[in-house]
Amino acid sequence: MSRRKILVTSALPYANGDIHIGHLVEYIQSDVWVRFQKLRGEDCRYFCADDTHGAAITISAKKKGISEEEFIADVWKSHTEDFRGFDVCFDNYGSTNSPQTKKICEEIWEKLKKADLIVQREIEQFYDPVEKRFLADRFIKGTCPKCGRKEQYGDSCECGAVYSPLDLIEPHSAISGAKLELRKANHLFVDIEKAHDFLSEWVSSSDALQPEIANYLKAQFLSDALRPWDVSRPAPYFGFKIPDSPDNYWYVWYDAPIGYIGSTAQWCEQNNENLDDWWRDPNTEIHHFIGKDITYFHTLFWPTTLKTAGFNLPKKVHIHGFLTVDGEKMSKSKGTFILARTYLKHLDPSYLRYFFSSKTSGHVDDLDLNLEEMETKVNADVVGVIVNLASRTAKFATMTGLAETYPDDGGLFEQAAALSDEIAAAYEVCDFAKAIKLILECGYRANQYVANNEPWNLKKEWARLEADESASPEARLSARTKLQNVVTVSLNLFRQIVVYLAPVLPDLARKTEQLLNTPIKNWDDVKSKILGTVVNEYSYMMTRVPKEGILAMLEESKEANTVNSTATTEEEQSVETNKWNDTAQNLIDEPIAETITIDDFAKVDLRIGRIIEAEQVKEARKLLRLRISLGGAETRQVFAGIKAAYPEPEKLIGRLVAFVANLQPRQMKFGLSEGMIVAAGPGGPDVFVLSPDEGAQPGMRLH
Ligand code: MSP
Ligand code: ZN
Repeated sequence: MSRRKILVTSALPYANGDIHIGHLVEYIQSDVWVRFQKLRGEDCRYFCADDTHGAAITISAKKKGISEEEFIADVWKSHTEDFRGFDVCFDNYGSTNSPQTKKICEEIWEKLKKADLIVQREIEQFYDPVEKRFLADRFIKGTCPKCGRKEQYGDSCECGAVYSPLDLIEPHSAISGAKLELRKANHLFVDIEKAHDFLSEWVSSSDALQPEIANYLKAQFLSDALRPWDVSRPAPYFGFKIPDSPDNYWYVWYDAPIGYIGSTAQWCEQNNENLDDWWRDPNTEIHHFIGKDITYFHTLFWPTTLKTAGFNLPKKVHIHGFLTVDGEKMSKSKGTFILARTYLKHLDPSYLRYFFSSKTSGHVDDLDLNLEEMETKVNADVVGVIVNLASRTAKFATMTGLAETYPDDGGLFEQAAALSDEIAAAYEVCDFAKAIKLILECGYRANQYVANNEPWNLKKEWARLEADESASPEARLSARTKLQNVVTVSLNLFRQIVVYLAPVLPDLARKTEQLLNTPIKNWDDVKSKILGTVVNEYSYMMTRVPKEGILAMLEESKEANTVNSTATTEEEQSVETNKWNDTAQNLIDEPIAETITIDDFAKVDLRIGRIIEAEQVKEARKLLRLRISLGGAETRQVFAGIKAAYPEPEKLIGRLVAFVANLQPRQMKFGLSEGMIVAAGPGGPDVFVLSPDEGAQPGMRLH
């Protein structure tokens, strides 16, 4: 039979955040599937990349004070390290911000235009005059038109209402706080309705989609006209410029899936391969692995794009559900928002690979990570059943080596080998849970064999005879052979299981190759026995899940990102009662607030400002009106409740202060207050405005 040619992708993770255990549901699932195909000897390649474009990247880069390119380069490094840590092994991990992706974006664009799928329309969109950019819905906030809740996102409210940002009351920028202006801009759309018939046909008859997904698409989208898809964004935007539409960029979701092809192209260049063999040869199978949240990009727009540009349609889009932890969404405050790297500091990646796989059935259901269940399962199955086979017999095998001929095992080896097709079929449809169940049954039988044959007693008997001077050489040899036979069977049954599980537990496979001096190369290794070889010194293969590791991981996840949080050395703590004898009263009156992360803190944009105007507000008992300069022409008006403490406001003019620059503006009786100066003290005459040390200048950010 000829080898299948299989191209596999996982969704491209956004370059504006770290890899977390939710992501790993997907990357582990696809990696297991790819390793399975490779083990079967198929010509399978696995491609991914960072998804690097869009407004969010610009904002994150700005926050760090670096360019977008530097920002995405840093993220690329950290993503690839995380994946390596979990044994997720891509044939190429690229970036959408690559010349290869850009070139293919342009090619596809030409094809879309030729097919008359691109239309231009003028739309009205909110514009942030401070940031000088149009804003995506998630960067717009305002009052919900339905329930009146304040500070809701531009497209939806906590109350469940979904609306257009144009319906928001008092819309303002979530970035600068500025009042937004409605401005017109030309956008380019893909008129996807023209592909309606093709999509209906593909969804119903191609077998590329899980039945629940096909039904969802038919009911939610295909029963109506498909709305045109807005694929351009006006400058400034971090992405690729649209060649014939100056000042417009492709929307990140236009180029993101093209990144799959871009990453393949990069690999082809480095490996002397031909891109068309992978994306245009009808014999090549394309398999996408994605989460349910991005279904419609991959099952409506993407097939339309591929078809129009003459690429292969996906053979299968494998869609998985979302990760919950202990039945709930991952939560930063509960410590269940666990980053890949935090996990790796405390726990063996094999635990998660095994646990996720044991819960993967190839359906779209959500997957729950219960850490206690993971602990129990890994300890019972992997350590208790599988690794146990090796740990109980390998040290004897090191003494005896493996027998030259395979002893009678009552048919166990053949029985396990006969499951090969059934286990492979389960892997093929991503029913890893079923595969594992079948494999474990082999493990139970093998353990029963070891228990029945008690190699530890055979070892004792052999040792006794060796020590007994009156024992004959034949008696000694026979005792040794008995032991050797039992360990030969045990380790062969063990290796068979390890081969079956190699896609899930590549690290266990590597250690087994080492132990038995024999590489694991092919699925059919489950049918071949290892005989007549020495067995290397046994070193641990996998330990029980350490409880303290789980706890430490949760603890660290709660604290994640609090750099240099609090002083901890004894020396520093003892400064509590010092020579200044400061009173504890202030802390008693107002205890220190709940811990926040550095990200929480970074939301508050504190700047040095200069008071350039200061005057009494006649009608107000407590207020002064100040105008703060942030440098250049940037000024803000604020009303500050500091009148009692600063009865002569003119004396404040010229002073530098700390200023909250991104506070949502507030309409007061006397005018708009556009920020807040930072001061200490309980109020009334006891208010103390903060000033920086010499050298600070207006506009500098406080970190
Ligand atoms: N950048 C887009 C994908 C572009 S593909 C051309 C994106 N990125 S993401 O980083 O948000 O998500 C990457 C993948 O991880 C998606 O398939 C998403 O569904 C999956 N997951 C992200 N969080 C997840 C969970 N909590 N649980 C399970 N999968 C999750 O979407
Ligand atoms: Zn609401």
